[in-house]
Amino acid sequence: MPAITSSAPGKIILCGEHAVVYGAPAIALPVFQVNTKTVVVAKPAAPEGELRIIAPCINLDSRLDSLDNDHPLKAASELVKQALGINRFQACEIRISTSIPIAAGLGSSASVTVSLSRALSAFHGHPLTDDAVNKIAFEVEKLHHGTPSGIDNTVITYQIPVYFIKDKPIEHLMIRKGFILVIADSGTASLTAKTVAGVRERWLADKERYDALFMEIADLSREIKDVLLKDDLTGNANLLTRNHDLLKNLGVSTPKLDDLVNTALDAGAYGAKLSGGGGGGNIIALVNESQADTVARRLEDRGATQTIITSIPSAWVN
Ligand code: MEV
Repeated sequence: MPAITSSAPGKIILCGEHAVVYGAPAIALPVFQVNTKTVVVAKPAAPEGELRIIAPCINLDSRLDSLDNDHPLKAASELVKQALGINRFQACEIRISTSIPIAAGLGSSASVTVSLSRALSAFHGHPLTDDAVNKIAFEVEKLHHGTPSGIDNTVITYQIPVYFIKDKPIEHLMIRKGFILVIADSGTASLTAKTVAGVRERWLADKERYDALFMEIADLSREIKDVLLKDDLTGNANLLTRNHDLLKNLGVSTPKLDDLVNTALDAGAYGAKLSGGGGGGNIIALVNESQADTVARRLEDRGATQTIITSIPSAWVN
C-alpha cells in the first residue's frame, strides 16, 4: 500500500481573538507558508491494529495505545476511528512533522489534528469530509484550550478566510482586495489555554468592563469585514492597531508584543497587532509590498525570532 500524505496550513487571527470566545465575530486567515504534514505508511508485519506515532516536534515516538486517552493525538485517532465506524486501525506508522511554531498563536494544535485526521482516514480508504474533520478538530481543541471558540479548527480545515461567529454556520469572507502581512514571532511560547483562562478570570471579576471591551472588539471586526468586502484594508489599517489596544486592555499583550507592534508601525506598517492568544506568540503587521522586507528586517533586529511575509489574495479574479 502506498504511503498516504496529508498537510494542513497554519493560521492567523486578523481581528477579534478572545472576544470571539464570548460570541463576538472574528476574522481568521489560513497561512500556507507554514504547515503540518502527516505521512501514514502500512506496517503489514506489525501486530494487527498497532499504530506507531512519531512526532519529533513534541519529542514523541510511541505506540498509540500507550498514550493517555486525553492525549490530543490519541483522542484525535479515536475520533477518526469512530467517524469511520471501525473497531481497529490497520497496522501503520504515522509521522507528523510541522513547521508551525508550537504555542505561538499560529494554530499548530488544530493543524496537527486536521492533517492527522485526513491522513488516517484516507489511509483507511475513506477520506473524511471537511465537516467531519472540523468536528474532530474542535473536540481536540477543547483538550488543548479548554473553551475554544472553534475559529482555529475552522479556518485550518476549510483553508479559506473566515468571518467567524461561534456556533454559527461558517462564512467564507470574500476579500475584495488582497494585502500583505508580516508575521513576526516574539520568541516567547504562550499557551492559548492559559491566556483564555486568564481573560475568563478577569471577565468573571468584572463582567461590565470586559463585556464592553468585547463589544468594542465586535464592532471593529464588523467594520473590518465591511472594509474587506468592499475596499482596501491598507486605508483602514488603524482598525488593526485599535484592536491591539483593546487586546492590551484585555490583559493579553506583553511589553515585547507592544514593542514589536510599535517597531512595525515605526518601520512604516499601516497597522499592527498581536495575533492569537497573546501572552507571547506572534504579531501581524499590514504593509505594502515595497515595505515588507524592511519591516520584517526591523522586527528581526528588534528580537523577533522568525518573520514570515504572506500575501493574502483577493477572492475576485478581475
Ligand atoms: C486563538 O487563535 C484565538 C482565541 O480567541 C481562542 C479561541 O477563539 O478559541 C484566543
